[in-house]
Amino acid sequence: MCRAVLLLVVFSLSCPAAEALDNGLALTPTMGWLHWERFMCNINCDKDPDNCISEKLYMQMADVMVKEGWKDAGYEYVCIDDCWPSHDRDAKGRLQADPRRFPGGIKKLADYVHSKGLKLGIYGDVGKNTCAGYPGSLGYYEVDAQTFADWGVDLLKFDGCYMNWTLLGEGYVNMSKALNKTGKSILYSCEWPLYEWPYQKVSDEHKEYLFRYNSLPDETIRLMLCYIKEHFCTSSFPVAGPGGWNDPDMLVIGNFGLSHDQQESQMALWAIMAAPLLMSNDLRNICPRSKKLLQNKLIIDISQDSLGKQGSLTGKFDSFEIWERPLSEKRLAAAVLNKQEIGGPRGFVIRAIPGWKMCDPKCNVTQILPEYKEMGVQTPKSNIVLSVNPSGTALLTITPLSSDFTEMYKLRWEDLSVKQKHATIL
Ligand SMILES: *[C@@H]1O[C@H](CO)[C@@H](O)[C@H](O)[C@H]1NC(C)=O
Ligand SMILES: *[C@@H]1O[C@H](CO)[C@@H](O)[C@H](O)[C@H]1NC(C)=O
Ligand SMILES: *[C@@H]1O[C@H](CO)[C@@H](O)[C@H](O)[C@H]1NC(C)=O
Ligand SMILES: *[C@@H]1O[C@H](CO)[C@@H](O)[C@H](O)[C@H]1NC(C)=O
Repeated sequence: MCRAVLLLVVFSLSCPAAEALDNGLALTPTMGWLHWERFMCNINCDKDPDNCISEKLYMQMADVMVKEGWKDAGYEYVCIDDCWPSHDRDAKGRLQADPRRFPGGIKKLADYVHSKGLKLGIYGDVGKNTCAGYPGSLGYYEVDAQTFADWGVDLLKFDGCYMNWTLLGEGYVNMSKALNKTGKSILYSCEWPLYEWPYQKVSDEHKEYLFRYNSLPDETIRLMLCYIKEHFCTSSFPVAGPGGWNDPDMLVIGNFGLSHDQQESQMALWAIMAAPLLMSNDLRNICPRSKKLLQNKLIIDISQDSLGKQGSLTGKFDSFEIWERPLSEKRLAAAVLNKQEIGGPRGFVIRAIPGWKMCDPKCNVTQILPEYKEMGVQTPKSNIVLSVNPSGTALLTITPLSSDFTEMYKLRWEDLSVKQKHATIL
């Protein structure tokens, strides 16, 4: 059961409702690193100095991000999650970092991260306390927004714990206004708890703010195999696009929980969904195969595609799901996910070329996952034969090779979907 699933919002703070475009932030899905899923609320710096939530952790991550190609690949934000503050506000009512774990303070940390050409994200909560029990921002929205701005923070993840649900939307809007009032552009990432949905329908007024989904750490694989199926397709918001994105939460590639096939599935689906690519792993010690996957330029190009359209589930055949995302230059990305977790690799033939009108008269197909393979020029009569491991994904891009395709593209892109009659399971 997807009990721990929350719904979050990411949007640039200039947005009064639908206008999430005009402060130049989040034009493509956010890329970076966030501590939570890997380091959680580890504050034991005496016993575990290398992995506790302290300024050293973010400085080391920033160093590695520059040295080992992460920054060049596009990962830009180094984000602090819960458990950074002191339990007490200062004499002026401002949040302060835990002085033992952040002796230099957040401003200095932000300066350090900026000196590396990266950006710093911080965490707060719309309610009385953060989820881990640190001071929340309720009653202090303007003070906290100004504090974050003064420190030079570039992104705020704003959680939804310890808040009267009926006031949640109002709180998020108020913080958005408070951030705007500081005059500093800060990417705003806020949360709507999905488990509240059965009790309280999201009002129309707040719909535009609902961009980000979240789930807790150990739920990620179920999030892929269950949550996406149960919730994402039926309730994803059409508002995703440049300025704000639906977010099914952190990438846990490189950690302990996922097989390599599952890691490939997460990467492929997050790219198709135009989801933020916020890694939560230990970049100081990551296996080369996971690193290569996270830095795969062709997948990142899909994620960051300038058309800015979110993909969606377009077909289901037995244990397979087809996901498609329209890309710029009239291209299409398609992922074929094999949700069967047992057995061996399953063959899947797309007799879908007639469904992909971009392949009439010809298209060029490239497989990116599980391995790079140029499948070459295809026609409406072609079959594309894939082999997909259990819980793995094949990821393709399809490029039209016809100058007449402009007309076709005016069709609703759902019309380009793989249709049942065009697929066969071997
Ligand atoms: C939550 O807020 C509403 C609206 O202000 C109020 O009527 C209700 O009593 C509050 N509930 C709690 C538990 O504080
Ligand atoms: C939001 O701001 C309005 C207007 O200042 C205020 O009346 C309301 O109490 C605030 N709500 C919350 C949850 O802070
Ligand atoms: C504040 O909001 C206004 C109106 O939406 C917008 O034009 C402006 O860019 C925003 N300022 C910042 C710093 O985001
Ligand atoms: C098909 O795509 C591959 C990979 O991008 C490229 O190398 C090749 O030249 C393309 N072929 C045609 C006919 O466009």
